[in-house]
Amino acid sequence: MAELEIRNLHVRVEDKEILRGLDLDVEKGRIHALMGPNGSGKSTLANAIMGHPAFEVTEGTISFKGTDITEAAPDERSRMGVFMAFQYPVAIPGVTVAKYLRMVVNAHREANGEEPIKLKAFRRQTEEAMELVNIPREFSSRYLNDGFSGGEKKRMEVLQLAMLRPEMSVLDETDSGLDIDALNVVAEGVNRYAGEDMGVLIITHYQRILHLVKPDAVHVMFDGRIVKEGGPELVDQLEKKGYGWIREELEGAAA
Ligand SMILES: Nc1ncnc2c1ncn2[C@@H]1O[C@H](COP(=O)(O)OP(=O)(O)OP(=O)(O)O)[C@@H](O)[C@H]1O
Ligand SMILES: [Mg+2]
Repeated sequence: MAELEIRNLHVRVEDKEILRGLDLDVEKGRIHALMGPNGSGKSTLANAIMGHPAFEVTEGTISFKGTDITEAAPDERSRMGVFMAFQYPVAIPGVTVAKYLRMVVNAHREANGEEPIKLKAFRRQTEEAMELVNIPREFSSRYLNDGFSGGEKKRMEVLQLAMLRPEMSVLDETDSGLDIDALNVVAEGVNRYAGEDMGVLIITHYQRILHLVKPDAVHVMFDGRIVKEGGPELVDQLEKKGYGWIREELEGAAA
């Protein structure tokens, strides 16, 4: 059984059905890439996995570790070990990186019936995590995402992975506009933690990052469904041929 199992998922935003019968399995300890043209519904899927209230599941199920979480609140999902990095992270004025991380870590601890983390322990943990992901110390006193460069946002994402060690992370990547160093930050973070018990669903339409991350499985989305699945060779095929041939295959199958 896959860690994250999505079956016949239909999701509506406002009055529009965006996911239309999507099936997807994401396994523990493996890296899954989700690709697909603009507007095919990738971010919608990520939001539905996290339980964003604007995304209404009208049919189908999402299960995590064998539990049906289709109706679970977002904080319940994150407490169970699902993590999401957003395509467009928001800035939170007045909240520093350190404060934010402490809030997130404590929310998890509280949910698990643990006491808030002691300041000293938190500092040590943060320093270790920052060292692992190669972030300078001054970073922790910056305001969250405020004026962060693309690369710094990525570092923040990976820092959260390092602190929270989620079992499943959904990374919705804006790899456009990121320089190679920023891509490397994400790639290193994913490679470091995915090998341990974390399953990863990395959403991207640029193949560059997938040369650094090496997915175990590749899923291609079209019009609200997964229409093709394969191994890393699929990334090369898409790189050479684009998405047109998949559309033709689909039209051929429907005719
Ligand atoms: N809040 C919303 N209100 C109305 N329509 C929405 C909303 N969010 C998404 N959509 C629509 O759903 C469709 C899928 O959008 P989504 O953001 O999931 O695509 P995507 O595959 O992530 O695209 P991209 O590759 O550009 O990131 C689009 O047609 C989009 O306009
Ligand atoms: Mg998107």
